[in-house]
Amino acid sequence: MPIISKRLQAAANLLTKCKSVADIGTDHALLPIHLVREGIAKKVIACDIAKGPLDVARANVTRFGLDDKIELRLANGLDGLAPNECNQITILGMGGETIADIIGAADWVRDKNVTLILQPMSCDDRLREYLITVGFEIITEVAVSSQGRVYTVIKANFSGDRKTYGKEFKYIGKLPQSNSDEAKAFIKRRLNSMKKCMAEIENIERKKALYDELKAATKTIEKLI
Ligand SMILES: C[S@@+](CC[C@H](N)C(=O)[O-])C[C@H]1O[C@@H](n2cnc3c(N)ncnc32)[C@H](O)[C@@H]1O
Repeated sequence: MPIISKRLQAAANLLTKCKSVADIGTDHALLPIHLVREGIAKKVIACDIAKGPLDVARANVTRFGLDDKIELRLANGLDGLAPNECNQITILGMGGETIADIIGAADWVRDKNVTLILQPMSCDDRLREYLITVGFEIITEVAVSSQGRVYTVIKANFSGDRKTYGKEFKYIGKLPQSNSDEAKAFIKRRLNSMKKCMAEIENIERKKALYDELKAATKTIEKLI
């Protein structure tokens, strides 16, 4: 019986087997427990900014007898890790802007050997924009339908190249390449929200640049679906 949601499973699927993974904002520590039980990671460093979630995490880790494999740390973002302590890092279930802030506060993750698995609950466009602006590359992106919502999960590495992307990229990333029903559902929902936003700002002069960007991006997205 799996102990994790399809959303967390989708993130786990993007990891490769390794010695240690860091899970930032671990909350209940269900992902770390799954990673160790499935042999994906020998050890997990599970961090959270708040004591309450870590207490729940500790109870769960003990219940599964994994106290020697999952280390719990009270820390803001990546502050609790030494540089290069883990080369695969998951940051899941937070807003896209919070995830970008966490990445931005730790220079050492700008390393091609560090892989980030990111799952924004909101503002995925801001997160993609941040990643590509500072030189991360989105390696792959999958959509997953879980508990009545469709989420995107992003795998990214630092490359240092600030590539040029089409105007649509920050809104839908690499989801068109995955060609799944979930990705199509995510893209459709995004297209609807972009059109709604366009209707709201159409006559606002100071929002013209955003309107033009949305117009160009929606045109491209419509051709892709
Ligand atoms: C909604 S839960 C997500 C839990 C789990 N990652 C998941 O996806 O199911 C968000 C967790 O992130 C933690 N959190 C929020 N901001 C954080 C930060 N800056 N650093 C570390 N943890 C943070 C919260 O305390 C909370 O436990």
